[in-house]
Amino acid sequence: MTRRKLDVTIGNVSEVYDGAGGILWEMLMGEQIHVGAEQETDTLAGKAGVTAGTHLLDVCSALGGPARHLARRYGCRVTGLDATRKMHEEAIRRTHEAGLEERLDFRLGNALDMPFQAGSFDVVWGQDAWCYITDKKRLIEECARVLKPGGVLAFTDWLETGPMSDGECSALNTFMVFPYMETLDGYAALSEAAGLTVVEKEDLSPDFATHIQHYLEEVQQTYREAIVSNYGQEMYDAVEQGITLWRDASAEGKVGRGRIVARKE
Ligand SMILES: C[S@@+](CC[C@H](N)C(=O)[O-])C[C@H]1O[C@@H](n2cnc3c(N)ncnc32)[C@H](O)[C@@H]1O
Repeated sequence: MTRRKLDVTIGNVSEVYDGAGGILWEMLMGEQIHVGAEQETDTLAGKAGVTAGTHLLDVCSALGGPARHLARRYGCRVTGLDATRKMHEEAIRRTHEAGLEERLDFRLGNALDMPFQAGSFDVVWGQDAWCYITDKKRLIEECARVLKPGGVLAFTDWLETGPMSDGECSALNTFMVFPYMETLDGYAALSEAAGLTVVEKEDLSPDFATHIQHYLEEVQQTYREAIVSNYGQEMYDAVEQGITLWRDASAEGKVGRGRIVARKE
């Protein structure tokens, strides 16, 4: 089914991560802003075959939490790419504080026009971020371009997983500021069309609703006062309502999460 894309620009997404949205998501998920925290990063690293010799590109690296974790645990090099200035500057600041500059560098830029030469990286990586990207076909082509031959594309993302009305899908995307969500099969097809061989395609949806329920409870029970006092009641109500919408849709199997691992021959 072809959905109408919301009119979301990279500027709209950066406003979220420059402002309250970035702070809220870090409150709920930690400085690795994805579902499943560092265990998910380790699982993806295992599937991507990350070792000390790997140079990995994290596309949409945000605060650089996964990049620092990967450098510490595996001794690899990581380049992070993100379009939001505040995220980029904060990633550099935290990496300096952690004393990890030798193995990490961060670039400010658009994933749809990566500032890297073809064949630069052993692993191209993304965690729960590409749902914000306006053109997934071009994104995957860019990933394939900057991968070395023999390199691995490994990512997780939030997905459309079941039937729902356009209005419902649009409300979910509007709250998150997603232009649209891919499906797992859609991502696999885009990867193959970009010349990659999909070696793993995994539906991670079964525990997605549990995570969203947990975020909702955190908002209601732990962060309510802080959100109201810093951003006002209206913002609190919008956040609670939006996450409730996501909790319900995930419980009904309409949205979920998945992982793709693909190789460049
Ligand atoms: C959910 S956060 C990413 C979290 C990160 N992957 C992690 O695991 O910690 C989404 C990030 O995507 C970035 N982003 C969205 N669209 C982008 C684009 N077209 N190019 C580069 N970065 C983008 C935003 O600036 C934001 O920092």
